[in-house]
Amino acid sequence: MSRTPQGQRASLDKQPHEVAAMFDGVAARYDLTNTVLSFGQDRFWRRATRAALGLRPGERVLDVGAGTGVSTEELAHSGAYAVGADLSLGMLHAGKRTRPGVPLLAGDALRLPFADASFDAVTISFALRNVNDTDAALRELARVTRPGGRLVVCEFSTPVNPAFRTVYLSYLMRSLPAVARTVSSNPDAYVYLAESIRAWPDQAALAARIGTAGWGRVAWRNLTGGVVALHRAIRD
Ligand SMILES: C[S@@+](CC[C@H](N)C(=O)[O-])C[C@H]1O[C@@H](n2cnc3c(N)ncnc32)[C@H](O)[C@@H]1O
Repeated sequence: MSRTPQGQRASLDKQPHEVAAMFDGVAARYDLTNTVLSFGQDRFWRRATRAALGLRPGERVLDVGAGTGVSTEELAHSGAYAVGADLSLGMLHAGKRTRPGVPLLAGDALRLPFADASFDAVTISFALRNVNDTDAALRELARVTRPGGRLVVCEFSTPVNPAFRTVYLSYLMRSLPAVARTVSSNPDAYVYLAESIRAWPDQAALAARIGTAGWGRVAWRNLTGGVVALHRAIRD
């Protein structure tokens, strides 16, 4: 864990206690900071995630790494029963305050507190990148999903256009941490955000990993030119 006068951030080996402590530190202003730093695109990305899941009323969907429940709340608009799980008690407490109607519970993506095949669909938004064993998390998501159930991973990815990619990486490494200093309750977490996005596999590499973790028919769709990618898959 790195500490500076402005806060704390996890290192790229993503130890769970460091990741949880870092998110505890951003919880108070998490939703606002997201919307500011993404120029409001976060709302569009969440709606697209819900649509990609193809949820029907009465289905059960699990949102892993749900944080303050902002992603879980969007899923519930489909009429499905949406429950969120997260490692950071700070994020969960913030969510309980702002979204008392959204079911949120403590849970680690690597050891989910649910029986096998409990859900019709599972999803993870902007959280898989923070789990220290990506492949184990994808296998654990498959475990709690019924055969034929759906997965959608919503995560930062690699912009497709080279010129846009250069501008985006410059925003990520220079401007984003500077803007975060004016909005976030833990600006250092946004230095980690930039570093972890740069180190994350691109669309094809992530699809290959999903395909070896108990999921079939893997496909992806780019949003905002590939700033974000939605990976979809079906439980084998
Ligand atoms: C960037 S936030 C995303 C929150 C929300 N899904 C959204 O779309 O805004 C990432 C969340 O993942 C959680 N997280 C990280 N590692 C986790 C793990 N191993 N198990 C469960 N949650 C985890 C963090 O605590 C944090 O709340």
